[in-house]
Amino acid sequence: MNIHFFLAFCRRILLRCQQLLNASKWRMAGTSSAAHKQSEHSCRNTHREFIRDRAKMNGHQPYILPKMHDMLSQLFRIKVPVLPLEVANRMKWKRYLLKNWMLPEYRNISDEHVRFSGTPWSWTFYHHIRDEILQEFTFHEYLKEEANEYLAQVRGDRKNVTFIGVHVRRGDYVKVMPRDRKGVVADKGYMDKAMAYYRNKYSNPLFVVASNGMPWCKENINASFGDVHFAGDGKESSPAHDFAVLAHCNHTIMTIGSFGFWPSYMAGGETIYLTNFTMPDSPMMTFFKYEAIYLPEWIGIPADLSPLLAEKEENNTGII
Ligand SMILES: *[C@@H]1O[C@H](CO)[C@@H](O)[C@H](O)[C@H]1NC(C)=O
Ligand SMILES: *[C@@H]1O[C@H](CO)[C@@H](O)[C@H](O)[C@H]1NC(C)=O
Ligand SMILES: *[C@@H]1O[C@H](CO)[C@@H](O)[C@H](O)[C@H]1NC(C)=O
Ligand SMILES: *[C@@H]1O[C@H](CO)[C@@H](O)[C@H](O)[C@H]1NC(C)=O
Ligand SMILES: *[C@@H]1O[C@H](CO)[C@@H](O)[C@H](O)[C@H]1NC(C)=O
Ligand SMILES: *[C@@H]1O[C@H](CO)[C@@H](O)[C@H](O)[C@H]1NC(C)=O
Ligand SMILES: *[C@@H]1O[C@H](CO)[C@@H](O)[C@H](O)[C@H]1NC(C)=O
Repeated sequence: MNIHFFLAFCRRILLRCQQLLNASKWRMAGTSSAAHKQSEHSCRNTHREFIRDRAKMNGHQPYILPKMHDMLSQLFRIKVPVLPLEVANRMKWKRYLLKNWMLPEYRNISDEHVRFSGTPWSWTFYHHIRDEILQEFTFHEYLKEEANEYLAQVRGDRKNVTFIGVHVRRGDYVKVMPRDRKGVVADKGYMDKAMAYYRNKYSNPLFVVASNGMPWCKENINASFGDVHFAGDGKESSPAHDFAVLAHCNHTIMTIGSFGFWPSYMAGGETIYLTNFTMPDSPMMTFFKYEAIYLPEWIGIPADLSPLLAEKEENNTGII
C-alpha cells in the first residue's frame, strides 16, 4: 500500500469532520471510486468510507475505514475510530455525488447512511472548523522532527530565515491541462513573480522547492540569488517527506493541484497560487471554481494564457 493518495483522504476526512460537527441528525458514510495511477503528486479519486452515529458530539460519532486509516495514520495522529469492513459492508448506503463546493442541500441530508463520491476539497466545506481539522492532521512527532531537522539543515548558518515552501505540480498535468482542460500549468513568469513577492517582503527568504517535475524546476526557477533549495537534491523525493517539509515552512507558493493546497493550508502563512489558468470555456469549469478552492486571503497571480490564445487564433485561421 502506498501513501501517495493520502491527500485525497485528508480531503474526505475534512468534509466528514465538517459535517460531523455541523449537522443534526443523520448518519452517513461515503466512498468514492477507484484509486488511480497518476503521478505521485496527484490526489484524485480515492476510496473513502466514513460513517457516523448519533451518539457523541452533536449526536454523532464518525468512523473511518481500515484502508483510510492505514494510509492517513502513516503521517498523522488520526483520532477518528476505525469502522471494521464487515460492519460497513452490512450497511445500506445512499449514494451522493458531491460537487467541489458547499451547497445548501448538503446541510440537509436526511438519509441514514450516505455514500459520498466526488472530490470535495473546497474550503467552503470545512474552513469554519479549521482548528479541528489541523488537530486531526497532527503529524507524528518523528515526522515533525524530521521536517524541522531537514529545514534546519537547509538553513545552515543563515540567520533569521523565512522559509517559503514551493510546490510545483508537473507530471501528468503538463499534458492534461492543455489537452483536456483548456488550461496551462505554471510557467517561469509565474515562478519569478511569486518569488519576487517574498524576496521583496522578507530580508532572508529561503525557498524550499518540491515537485514531481524537478528537471523543469532546476531549469526555470531562478536560483542565482542563492536562496533556493531543491528538496531531495533536485530529484523527486518521497511525497510524504515533501508534504511534511512544505507544511512546516512559514509561507507557501503553490501552482495547481491539491497536493500543493494542503501544505499551504496547514502551514497557515501567506499563500501565492496560480489563478485563472483555464480558458472561460474549459470543461474544468463544471467541477472547479477558483473562488471555492483558494482562500479569499490568498494571493492569486493570473496565468499567462497566451499559448492557448495563440492556438485558438491558429485554429480559427485554419477554419478560414
Ligand atoms: C454550520 O452550522 C452553522 C450553525 O448552524 C451555520 O451557520 C453554518 O453555515 C454551517 N456551515 C456549513 C458549512 O454547513
Ligand atoms: C430538509 O429536508 C426536509 C425533508 O426532505 C425538507 O422537508 C426540508 O424542507 C429541508 N430543509 C431545507 C432547509 O432544505
Ligand atoms: C528578520 O526578518 C524579518 C522579516 O524579514 C525582518 O523584518 C527583521 O528585520 C529581521 N531581523 C533581523 C535582526 O535581521
Ligand atoms: C535570474 O535573476 C538574475 C538577478 O535578477 C538575473 O540577472 C538573471 O537574468 C535571471 N535569470 C533568469 C534565467 O531569469
Ligand atoms: C518559520 O518556520 C520555522 C520552521 O518550521 C519555525 O521554526 C519558525 O518558528 C517559523 N517562523 C515564524 C516567524 O513563524
Ligand atoms: C480572474 O478572472 C476573473 C474573471 O475574468 C477576474 O474577475 C479576476 O479578477 C481574475 N483574477 C486575477 C487575480 O486576475
Ligand atoms: C484547437 O483545435 C484542436 C483540434 O480541434 C482542439 O483540440 C483544441 O482544443 C483547440 N484549441 C483551442 C485553444 O481552442
